[in-house]
Parts: sequence; structure tokens; C-alpha cells
Amino acid sequence: MRWLIQELEQEHLEQIMQIEKASFPTPWTEGMFLSELTSPRSYHFVATREGGQKAVVLCYIFFWIFMEEVHILNLATHPNFRKLGIASSLLLFVLDFAYRKGGIIYLLEVREGNRAAVSLYQKMGFSAWGIRKKYYTDTGEDGILMGLIYADRLYVTKNDKQSHLP
Ligand SMILES: CC(C)(COP(=O)(O)OP(=O)(O)OC[C@H]1O[C@@H](n2cnc3c(N)ncnc32)[C@H](O)[C@@H]1OP(=O)(O)O)[C@@H](O)C(=O)NCCC(=O)NCCS
Repeated sequence: MRWLIQELEQEHLEQIMQIEKASFPTPWTEGMFLSELTSPRSYHFVATREGGQKAVVLCYIFFWIFMEEVHILNLATHPNFRKLGIASSLLLFVLDFAYRKGGIIYLLEVREGNRAAVSLYQKMGFSAWGIRKKYYTDTGEDGILMGLIYADRLYVTKNDKQSHLP
């Protein structure tokens, strides 16, 4: 399957809200999405495919870039289109995009029990940098702080294992 990565627009929000509700125990509200769309430090992209009159949203990502630090805030793939490599391709795009804007340190929090996401981030070169105790107030779950240092298209994990992006 082919998909297109493009900047996320307000017209995508209706579909994103559906994916969000199907993906998280405490989904972001429309207000939260709208405030990210207008925040100067916030960036957002979608992977879409053609679908008749309007593009079908397959995956989306929100992140902040602040100086050399990049914080990934939200990422989800439509439940019908998972395990196709879409989130990986969007993340790779974001690593490269943010690198061009000066991003070097990439950070995110993930629920300890979210095996799919932890595995995805590990596959992308992130490693666990710490545990945020009871970070998720809805379930009391711990958050794993995962990080990646990305410099000159070489990513370096905290354990000094190195590999080049494909
Ligand atoms: C996590 C999520 C974004 C992955 O999206 P995706 O488009 O299916 O991911 P990809 O197809 O690019 O998968 C890449 C890798 O992630 C891991 N992965 C993805 N789904 C997995 C699953 N169900 N179980 C275990 N590992 C999984 C695998 O390592 C996979 O590589 P592989 O296909 O070679 O095994 C998706 O499952 C999702 O939207 N989950 C709900 C929202 C969420 O948890 N977001 C992350 C919040 S931190």
C-alpha cells in the first residue's frame, strides 16, 4: 500500500478524533488538538491515502521542537491499517524533518504496558532513559521515558550502540 506524508490540517481533525478515541484510554479532546495546531512550537503531520472525495487519514503525529530538543506528544495509526510500517515511516520522516530544524535529542513518554509502541520506538533506535512513576493519572501506570540522540543522520542510543538509518 502507498501513502502520502503531508502537513496535518484542520480538515483532518474529524478523522483524527475517531482514530484517537479508538487508540487511547484518555483521548485528546478537540480543544487539545486545536491548541496544538495554533502553537508555534508544535508540528504535526499525517500519512494519508486517496479515498474518493477526501484523503483517508492513516496515521498522525504531533511533536514539539524547542531548540535542539524534540518531544513527541502523540502518535497513532488507524486500527485498520496497523502493522504496515506506516508509523515507522512517519517517525523516520519526523526524525529527518526535525534534524533539519536543529533537533538532536528526541524524547517521548510511553505507557509501560504499551508493548506495540515500545517495540516500535525500540525499532526506531529509541531506548529507555528512565521511568516516570505513575505518570498516567487515568490508570496510575508508569511512563517509560524513551530517548534518542540523532546527529548527522546517525542515531546513537544512550548505551552507545550505533546504527545508520536505512
Ligand atoms: C503503536 C502504533 C502507533 C504502531 O503503529 P503501526 O503503524 O502499526 O506501526 P508499524 O507498522 O510501523 O510497526 C513498526 C514496529 O512496531 C512494532 N509493533 C507495531 N505493532 C505491534 C504490535 N501489535 N505488537 C508488537 N509490536 C508491534 C513492531 O516492532 C513493528 O515492527 P515489525 O512490523 O517489523 O514487527 C499503533 O499500534 C497505534 O496506533 N497504537 C495505539 C496508539 C499508541 O499506542 N500510540 C503510541 C503512544 S506512545
